[in-house]
Amino acid sequence: MSQFSDRVEQVSISGIREVFEAAGEDAINLGLGQPDFPTPEHVQDAATKAIKDGACDAYTSNKGTRELREAIAEKHSRDNGLDVDPEHVIATAGGSEALHLVMEAHVSAGDEVVIPDPGFVSYDALTRIAGGTPKPVALRDDLTLDPAAVEDAITDDTAMFVVNSPSNPTGTVASEADVREFARIADEHDVVCLTDEVYEHFVFEGSHHSPAEFAETDNVVVVNACSKAYSMTGWRLGWVTASERRIERMLRVHQYAQACATAVAQHAAEAALTGPQDPVTEMAETFEARRDLLLDGLSDAGLETPTPTGAFYAMPRVPDGWVEEVIDRGVVVVPGEAFGEHGAGHARISYATGTEELKAAIEIMTAAADAVR
Ligand SMILES: Cc1ncc(COP(=O)(O)O)c(C=O)c1O
Repeated sequence: MSQFSDRVEQVSISGIREVFEAAGEDAINLGLGQPDFPTPEHVQDAATKAIKDGACDAYTSNKGTRELREAIAEKHSRDNGLDVDPEHVIATAGGSEALHLVMEAHVSAGDEVVIPDPGFVSYDALTRIAGGTPKPVALRDDLTLDPAAVEDAITDDTAMFVVNSPSNPTGTVASEADVREFARIADEHDVVCLTDEVYEHFVFEGSHHSPAEFAETDNVVVVNACSKAYSMTGWRLGWVTASERRIERMLRVHQYAQACATAVAQHAAEAALTGPQDPVTEMAETFEARRDLLLDGLSDAGLETPTPTGAFYAMPRVPDGWVEEVIDRGVVVVPGEAFGEHGAGHARISYATGTEELKAAIEIMTAAADAVR
């Protein structure tokens, strides 16, 4: 008799999709987790040229082309001050596959993975798919992850904890002091710190820091992607970088599950990482202006919002019934509980949408707040 695995029976399709389905076709969608910009033209051109040159017809090396991995190493030197060996990089099918590789290579059945709550939905699901047990920790009132809470949650069974700054769904950015603490915890407790940095370029106050800058052991594993930074979610190109022994274990999974990341996406990513970075700056500036617009609107609507200083999300505290009321009135937002138990009483609002739509949505969200109070 055919049966499904215990691991797969532990996860369900993301609750976010259900919200989209509940909304009408003309709804203003503030539920999306991707930039509303085209992929930069020089990236598109590099991809079409690579196709025409016949550079995309064959498998690449399992880790990805040497040129792409050199571009990724150079990116880490330029942006993060990290000395990354191109041999210690695996190009993946988006950040999603990179997260999967980290989990599969480090989490054994029964191991615990400490994750932020509310947090990105994949951390819980990928932990379970790897046979592990998610250990959600509540965020501080300002919706940042408290290193002390992470440290308290660590037991003898902990394999890993996850840090995501800037964060989906909260839009908050970890302080340098907290990031230093995450590195210390990884070192002192000998657990893996999975740091998901896919929003690193969208920081409006302060600056982005990676625990990899401060760790003294090889316990920090970095996941990143071109998806958000270059508006390339459809290309599916991310990566993971870690020490040689960790990369070797993750490559075992990647080699059999994926063989290599799509060749054309690898060429596109190389162009994105080595070419002009102005499109990234322009997107970041646009997001910041929209964030200001949204925060003013939410404040006028009487909704308290922990200040989001990065990514393109805000997570206000909302009254009972507000999310349903907003969706009924034709604006899609995601209920906070889709991101974990402690997300209840909040909603995630993505401002990766046009300014005019955002203004119209703010009016509707304000009217909804008045209606449910
Ligand atoms: C925090 C976070 N990490 C990783 C990902 C995965 O991104 P990708 O499209 O590169 O797989 C997302 C996508 O929404 C995300 O929000």
